[in-house]
Amino acid sequence: MTDTPSRKLRYAMVGGGRDAFIGAVHRHAIALDGQAELVAGALSSSPEKARASGRDLFLADDRNHGDWQALLADEMARPAHERIDFVSIVTPNHVHFPVAQAFVEAGFHVVCDKPLVHTSAQADALVAAVKRQGTVFGVTYNYTGYPMVRQARAMVQAGELGDLRKVVVEYNQGWLATHLEAEGNKQAGWRTDPAKSGAAGAIGDIGSHAENLLTTVTGLEIESLCADLGALVPGRTLDDDGSLLLRFAGGARGVLVASQIHTGVENDLRLRISGTRGTLDWRQEQPSELVHFPPEGPKRILTRGSPWLCESARRASRLPSGHPEGFLEAFANVYAGVMADIRARLAGQAADPITADYPRVEDGARGVRFIERTVASAASTAKWTAW
Ligand SMILES: NC(=O)c1ccc[n+]([C@@H]2O[C@H](COP(=O)([O-])OP(=O)(O)OC[C@H]3O[C@@H](n4cnc5c(N)ncnc54)[C@H](O)[C@@H]3O)[C@@H](O)[C@H]2O)c1
Repeated sequence: MTDTPSRKLRYAMVGGGRDAFIGAVHRHAIALDGQAELVAGALSSSPEKARASGRDLFLADDRNHGDWQALLADEMARPAHERIDFVSIVTPNHVHFPVAQAFVEAGFHVVCDKPLVHTSAQADALVAAVKRQGTVFGVTYNYTGYPMVRQARAMVQAGELGDLRKVVVEYNQGWLATHLEAEGNKQAGWRTDPAKSGAAGAIGDIGSHAENLLTTVTGLEIESLCADLGALVPGRTLDDDGSLLLRFAGGARGVLVASQIHTGVENDLRLRISGTRGTLDWRQEQPSELVHFPPEGPKRILTRGSPWLCESARRASRLPSGHPEGFLEAFANVYAGVMADIRARLAGQAADPITADYPRVEDGARGVRFIERTVASAASTAKWTAW
């Protein structure tokens, strides 16, 4: 981490008010390293709830806004020494684009949750705006922040698996196995509404994480895909279950599964990568372990915090091995990368590439394309053979 400027960064949040899920996770993750403080916000869709949520977090009255437009206008009117360094966008998906675009156009650094936006046209516009403005833009594909995911990536890059042949990535959950949206569950409500979620349900919500994880770790490029999407819970329009076959440039094959109707299953994200010289297996619910299957000997379990891991994995740990770290720390690693990049730019220096390791706006845009191509493939029955 660079040591300038010699102050905490200042950030604002859009979304993440009372009863919201991921906004608090972002705040905890940012707080973990003490590098930034929340100074402003527009925390909810209703102005009253937004302000009440801001009071919960002790925001100053004049920086606790009823909507994001007022937040942006206020930031623009402030002198540089008070202004935020970045904004975190943690609203439902349909709000990402207008907020992200407006803050980037105004020259602010942005962190936005996934999926980035609804359409490739929006994603392309955002990528172009970030390029034009020269701003930092991080997308919280937080699973890439786990030390053992970074270790897996380093092993693939070092050729320890040989030529990659097969990748299987699965993200299975069970929380949408019933018609939860009909019971007033807020998180289920917008996720199953195409106007808010976008063109996809489970594929956008968690399939996008799976795509990002597999691409980040393997470096493989999807060349074509064949998707089967279903809305298996009666009354639902968007997919809650998806299975994809993948073909990668260079000849490797893959399978991607993303489902939210696996009754009782929690957050079972798993990545298996096989090459000519070995296999790796990582599971989010045991994130400190990476299982390596070399062809010439017994399988071995690599663990977080060990001195023999790659530098990127070592630097992504805060505790000695055996003291559990998990979701919040991985999330904090993505933020550490974003903040290192922002500090470097403020200092006019190049960022340390090992620390400034975070998913960028281009990764978010690729995720949007993945969702669009998956939905397009699922609409075609050309690949099905009748029994
Ligand atoms: N990275 C991850 O692991 C992860 C996990 C969960 C959710 N997410 C993503 O985070 C985002 C939020 O998901 P969630 O589960 O926290 O949703 P949520 O419904 O729990 O919270 C959304 C928050 O945004 C607020 N909001 C809505 N419209 C707004 C507006 N116009 N202005 C200001 N605030 C507004 C809501 O009032 C609420 O506070 C989604 O894009 C989702 O895909 C990512």
